[in-house]
Amino acid sequence: MLMRKLIALSVLCAAVGGLSLQAADVKENWAKHCTKCHGEDGKGQTTMGKKLKVADYTDPKVQAKFTDEEMIKITKEGKKEGSKTLMKGYSDVLSDQEIKDLVAHIRKMAKK
Ligand code: HEC
Repeated sequence: MLMRKLIALSVLCAAVGGLSLQAADVKENWAKHCTKCHGEDGKGQTTMGKKLKVADYTDPKVQAKFTDEEMIKITKEGKKEGSKTLMKGYSDVLSDQEIKDLVAHIRKMAKK
């Protein structure tokens, strides 16, 4: 009886685990991969962000400097300054759709 319950429980856990993996939403991805430098609010006022001189993405003037395509490209391939990597590429950790969602998320940060 107990064994059955344990099996049922582990199947349930696997199902829920799989589900949350698939549905890793944009806020989670942002928090997990990007806030270290860009900050929760996109201002880049973090220790790493200040060191790397991350731009303030709540500023519409900053956002106007790049197109969605450029943002997607940089999120995939990363950003370098000479031979120094400022930001690594995320094409191996995030899907195209997740990257598109993140770019849309950054776009929403600009104050209107
Ligand atoms: C190690 C710190 C670091 C992390 C982590 C990081 N970035 Fe960056 N990112 C930078 C730096 C530095 C720049 C270049 C300066 C700038 O444009 O703000 C940059 C630039 C960008 C740009 C600007 C593109 C352009 O055209 O100039 C986008 C978009 C971006 N990052 C998205 C992301 C996303 C999405 C994530 C998470 C998946 C992320 N970054 C994680 C440091 C980081």
